[in-house]
Amino acid sequence: MSAPIGVFDSGYGGLTILKELKKQLPQYDYIYLGDNARAPYGTRSFETVYEYTLEAVKWFFEQGCELVILACNTASAKALRNIQQLDLPNIAPDKRVLGVIRPSSEVLGNFSQTGAVGIMATTGTVQSESYLLEMAKFFPKVQVYQQACPMWVPLIENGEYEQPGADYFVKAYLDALFSQSKDIDTILLACTHYPLLEAKIKSHLPLGVKIISQGDIVAQSLAQYLDNHPEMAQKCSQSGQIQFFTTDNAETFEKQASAFFGQKIEANHADLA
Ligand code: DGL
Repeated sequence: MSAPIGVFDSGYGGLTILKELKKQLPQYDYIYLGDNARAPYGTRSFETVYEYTLEAVKWFFEQGCELVILACNTASAKALRNIQQLDLPNIAPDKRVLGVIRPSSEVLGNFSQTGAVGIMATTGTVQSESYLLEMAKFFPKVQVYQQACPMWVPLIENGEYEQPGADYFVKAYLDALFSQSKDIDTILLACTHYPLLEAKIKSHLPLGVKIISQGDIVAQSLAQYLDNHPEMAQKCSQSGQIQFFTTDNAETFEKQASAFFGQKIEANHADLA
C-alpha cells in the first residue's frame, strides 16, 4: 500500500508549501487535502479548528499516510499540540503529525540584524501566541511583534490579491505592524496563503525589510526530519506521485489551485467525517 505524506490546509494555502516539498523532496508521494468547504479557519474558535483538523488527520491515516504535515499555521497553532499529545497515542501511536510554526521559529531570528521581527498571521494564530512561545525558546533575545491580517485570506481565496482593492488592506496591516516598532527588519508570512500577496506586500514595505515565506523553510525542515528519522523515511512511499483532494467542489479547486501550486492539477472531492 502506498504511504504518501499528507499535506493539509484549510484551503489552498498549503499548496505553497507542497510546491516547495515537491521541489526539494520530489521522490516522495504526497496527498494534499484542502478543507475548502469550511475555510477560512483563521477566525474560528480553538475547539472548531481542533475538531476539523483532527477529522482531516484521521482521513489522511485512512489513506495510508504515516506522516502528516499541517501546512496551515492556524491548524498548527490551535490543533497540533492536542493531536500530538492527546489523540495520536490512542489512534495511531506510530504515526506522526508535524506543523509549520516550530520549523519557522527555529530559523526566523537568523534573518534579522536588528533583533526585531514581525509575524503577519491570521487572527487565530496571533491569539494563540504560538509564535511568541516558540520564538522565546529559539531566539530569546529577539523581539517579536505580531499583526493579525484577517482580510488577507478572504482577498486571496476570492482571487482579489492582484487587484487595487487589495492594496488598502496590505498597507493597513503593514502600517499597524510598523507602528509597534520601527526596528523590525524581517517579516514572516506566517500564513500559507500569504505568498500570493508577496508582490503587493513588497511594494508597501519599508526599504530594506526582508520578507520570509515558509515553503522553503518547511521543506528543509522536513528533509532534516526524514534524515534524522530513517524509520519514518522508509515507511513513506517514494514514487513521486501527488494526489489532490478538496472537501468542496473539485472543479473550482482545480481552477484556483494553479496560482498557489504553480502548475495545473487534477483534484477529487473528499468527505470528512
Ligand atoms: N493558510 C492558513 C494558515 O496558514 C490559514 C487560512 C485560513 O484562515 O483558513 O494559517
